[in-house]
Amino acid sequence: MSLSTSSIATESTVTKKLTQALNGKRTSPPPIWLMRQAGRYLPEYMEIRKSAGDFLSLCYTPELAAEVTLQPVRRFGLDAAIIFSDILVIPDALGQNVRFAEGEGPLLEPVRTSEQIERLDRGGLEDRLGPVYQALECVRKELSPDVALIGFAGAPWTVATYMVEGGGSRDFSLVKGWAFSAPDEFQRLIDVLVEATSAHLISQIAAGAEALQIFDTWAGALPEQAFIRWCVLPVKEIVSRVREKHPRVPIIGFPRGVGVAYKMYGRETGVNALSIDSSVPLAWAASDLQPICVVQGNLDPAMLLAGGKPMISAAKDIVATLGERGFVFNLGHGIIRTTPPDHVAALVEEVRAS
Ligand code: CP3
Repeated sequence: MSLSTSSIATESTVTKKLTQALNGKRTSPPPIWLMRQAGRYLPEYMEIRKSAGDFLSLCYTPELAAEVTLQPVRRFGLDAAIIFSDILVIPDALGQNVRFAEGEGPLLEPVRTSEQIERLDRGGLEDRLGPVYQALECVRKELSPDVALIGFAGAPWTVATYMVEGGGSRDFSLVKGWAFSAPDEFQRLIDVLVEATSAHLISQIAAGAEALQIFDTWAGALPEQAFIRWCVLPVKEIVSRVREKHPRVPIIGFPRGVGVAYKMYGRETGVNALSIDSSVPLAWAASDLQPICVVQGNLDPAMLLAGGKPMISAAKDIVATLGERGFVFNLGHGIIRTTPPDHVAALVEEVRAS
């Protein structure tokens, strides 16, 4: 047998519960990992975060980024590690000035004109994101062979919201105003992001990522036609570019808050799995999504914060309804920073016992 890179990748992933589930195989109990599993709710993260200085320096110091990636896996015995990075490393690598101000969230020097799009530096991406790929290599070396390593990126629409608004936003008036009034201009920004994001995901696989997640946190802010143009089509293009190079690496899509449009997104983009937010009804996910895609989700992060019996009972419902087919246990969105780590341990124990 010839040992091509892809056959090695397949052999090394067959024993992992996460990649099995993402390939549609039922595993009982299901694999579990949690969005934002590394971060400020863990005291050991806060220690490293202090020594690194600012958040982006932590993302770009491979040994430290690798260490905080591994922390939750060590503490809770999760089935996957997600590389510690951020969706905003793409605008940062494109030369847009990105800062994380303490207590304020991200601040970006806004991109609001065609000239500003053209000024983005599309050439230096690989070099600037080198530390992320080195961090993936470090993690893969340390990780036990049955734990999968997940790479990720933000979807073009969600990243564009931060680039145009200059940070977080309540109503997305600037980015939507631009997309609706001058769609051909705005398309250029999305195209730049499709290119950069595809390259970034492909490089993460080369550095050891065995599955990918595409975060479209603000997909639910768009009406139908705009959702198709700015979320579905760009992600479909990214999936096809990644697949061309790495046909076997499973891809999880997370178009948060899109309700019944999850179905169209699953069909049209070609992702292997849909990460569903907590508002998606479980019975509907089982009847309408699982025939199309593997489903991942969807415990409300506030249930994890609350803990105790309500959390256990919500987790049981999720596994009972979705656990009969390819399924990955996760939250409906990222861990809330005030979550007690003991609640995470109790959740993992519950899912493992199911
Ligand atoms: O899941 C993981 O453990 C991997 C790491 C990860 C981070 N951000 C680390 C982070 C992932 C997958 C992300 C994705 C991300 N980043 C998204 C999509 C998912 C989602 O939560 O909706 C978005 C929208 C961002 C952008 C972002 N990064 C914001 C709005 C903020 C500020 C809000 C906040 O929580 O502080 C960040 C900062 C950030 N990204 C932190 C972490 C651990 C906190 C930084 C710190 O230590 O101060």
